[in-house]
Amino acid sequence: MSSMAIHKPLFISLEGLDGCGKTTQMDRVAEFCETRNPHGYILTREPGGTEVGERIRHILLDHAAIDAKSELLLIFAARAQHLKTIIEPALALGQTVICDRYVDATYAYQGYGRGLPISLIDELVRILRIPLPDLTLFFDVPVDLAQARRKGRPTDRIEAEGTEFFERVRNGYRARAESDPGRVAIIPATDTLAAVGQTVDAILRTRC
Ligand code: TMP
Repeated sequence: MSSMAIHKPLFISLEGLDGCGKTTQMDRVAEFCETRNPHGYILTREPGGTEVGERIRHILLDHAAIDAKSELLLIFAARAQHLKTIIEPALALGQTVICDRYVDATYAYQGYGRGLPISLIDELVRILRIPLPDLTLFFDVPVDLAQARRKGRPTDRIEAEGTEFFERVRNGYRARAESDPGRVAIIPATDTLAAVGQTVDAILRTRC
């Protein structure tokens, strides 16, 4: 007798430009996961998610200039700590991990945005054994809409980049989604919160 194991995504990341609305949708994802996983879930974020990671986040988002490679390595330092002390232990307990940004952000921001070689990021991912999420929700919005949504909010060092930088970041996310459609779901996020939420629910119903 053979039984087919149904793979339930346990590690979910949310991605998109600053101002895409992903953080607002996290609670919705959590609500859905709560009904599906008796072991519960954790909500976390990158850069951050640990005491050390939050300190690194502070350095990264502060306005002091940082070389692109140093920025990349700080992000991976925070990620290594996050994986070891938060993400992997939660997954080992069977919990769902819902992460506000993760490794696709590094490809999009540091690779496409800053212009660092994608092969360098691939190598760090390989050497540090950074696992990919089971499911990534990419909230896709045009750059001008993302910028309009952010208007009036304080701007951190990365958000202070110009339109061309964010066009490259968006292209980076789209390239990641197109090259791995089984993992990355593109969510057109120009609509109202409620409409985007319904798209999120539909994706979770089919993929979880
Ligand atoms: P947040 O405001 O969505 O929490 O993200 C903080 C900033 O960090 C955001 O501008 C994107 C940036 N970031 C990177 O540049 N590379 C990364 O790998 C991650 C996780 C975030």
